[in-house]
Amino acid sequence: MYVGTVISTTNTPSTEKFHFVLAEDVIVKKGQFVVVSTEEGKVVARVSDIIKTNPYFERADSVKEFERSGKSLSELFPSERWEYLIGEAVPLGVYNENGELSRSFVPPSPGEKVYLAGKQEIFKFFGFDENGVCLGKVLHHDVEVKLNITRLLQKHLAILAMSGAGKSYLTTVLIEELIERKEEHGKIGIVLIDTHGEYVGFTEDEKYMDKTYLVLGKDFKIGVPSLSPQFFAEILPNMTAVQKRELTRLLAYIHEEKKGKPFDLTDLMEKLENDKIIKKSDTRNILYTYLSELNSTGLFGYYDNPPLDKLSRPGQLTIIDISDLTSQKEKQIIVSYIGRKLFEARRIERIPPTLLILEEAHNYAPEGVKKENAISRGIIEKIAREGRKFHVALCLISQRPINLSTTALSQCNTHIILRITNPYDLDHIGKTSEGITRDVLKIISSLQVGEALVVGEAVNYPLFFKVRTRKSKKAERGISLEEAALRFMEKQNKVSEDVKAFM
Ligand SMILES: Nc1ncnc2c1ncn2[C@@H]1O[C@H](COP(=O)(O)OP(=O)(O)O)[C@@H](O)[C@H]1O
Ligand SMILES: [Mg+2]
Repeated sequence: MYVGTVISTTNTPSTEKFHFVLAEDVIVKKGQFVVVSTEEGKVVARVSDIIKTNPYFERADSVKEFERSGKSLSELFPSERWEYLIGEAVPLGVYNENGELSRSFVPPSPGEKVYLAGKQEIFKFFGFDENGVCLGKVLHHDVEVKLNITRLLQKHLAILAMSGAGKSYLTTVLIEELIERKEEHGKIGIVLIDTHGEYVGFTEDEKYMDKTYLVLGKDFKIGVPSLSPQFFAEILPNMTAVQKRELTRLLAYIHEEKKGKPFDLTDLMEKLENDKIIKKSDTRNILYTYLSELNSTGLFGYYDNPPLDKLSRPGQLTIIDISDLTSQKEKQIIVSYIGRKLFEARRIERIPPTLLILEEAHNYAPEGVKKENAISRGIIEKIAREGRKFHVALCLISQRPINLSTTALSQCNTHIILRITNPYDLDHIGKTSEGITRDVLKIISSLQVGEALVVGEAVNYPLFFKVRTRKSKKAERGISLEEAALRFMEKQNKVSEDVKAFM
């Protein structure tokens, strides 16, 4: 579709910007994509602004003098006849005749015709994939955003935005797409740490319940026999070298004694109490205190729940709903254990390639916090650094990117950013996300709920899109304040009616 013609202004067209006068009866919106030809090939550009001009209203003195004389300038030169719409566009890249994409090094010529970018052009330009996950539609264009899952996930994904911007909603859409993927395109396992219990909707929805496996925090168990001394060291970061050595010895000892039979922390503590080799009673006492503290969390038992073969399966969503736990430390222990288990199991290919989704990721991999308050940070950073080799992908979700481990965040090669208004967070995003210009930052602060920007590995160029409508049911806990108030009153009314009926 022809939309206008490139014009010549004082400093455009340049390689960074060009202006075009809009054709008759054509509407072009800020943010839309247009194409124009140059010697290099076809340039794709984003409309960065629309400007109105009218040659008769350019000079303040003549407008004022005309009015003073009692005549009306707008009657003489009506705006529908003399007003021009000028589009301002920023070239993003160029296709040469071989269909290869590069930066553009020459500006379009004045007089060159400008066209609205077509579906295929946008699809190809941003590097979408027919078999990718469909997260929504390109803003202002009727083109589905279909992202290749290797590009989106293999080098990790971060979803960042202020609270209420639509992070969990977008994550729900991503999960639906991953569950519904066709077998021939490859299905991965999805393990979700659900901090607020927002995703139980999947277990209530007929379409997804068969593909969803829910584990509540209270049922979660870490099987002690499978624990390595390193894991104990991670969850007990204050252990001294001596304490570690003694614990390692005790573990080896109890394994030998039990000969494959399961044991739990109580058994281990009993071993410690009766141990003859530990010389210092201090060491024994402190270790005993550590172990009994761990034991009192109720997280440890004879066997793992969920067992490994249920934890990650192709096309299955495993929800670890830890909203019933209040202790931050216990939550971190769970995340740490799950992370380690997934990483190890993938290394020996016991489970399918898996995506680990962490809601409130800053709570599990906090930046600038002492080790003992960041038990799970180590494994998250490890997966961030090495996970891609073994196909363990991370999706870190956070409304506090400033508080999220820089090591982990910097390994997330794709960022999806929704509305953010806090200037500190915006500034941080500008520094940590690649390819974000000041213009783009401004747009981020004005996004509506459900509008998002994707930058990085998954797309060839930063792209704004509207998240598609979810298909799965919304969980009770995801309902709005209004809905919750209405439901509460309904319930109360029902109770009082019941009471009346009874009397
Ligand atoms: N793309 C969207 N379309 C429609 N409603 C949305 C969309 N994204 C978010 N919402 C609504 O906005 C509210 C906040 O979304 P949520 O995903 O919980 O935000 P966050 O996780 O960022 O705090 C929810 O009520 C949700 O239903
Ligand atoms: Mg949320």
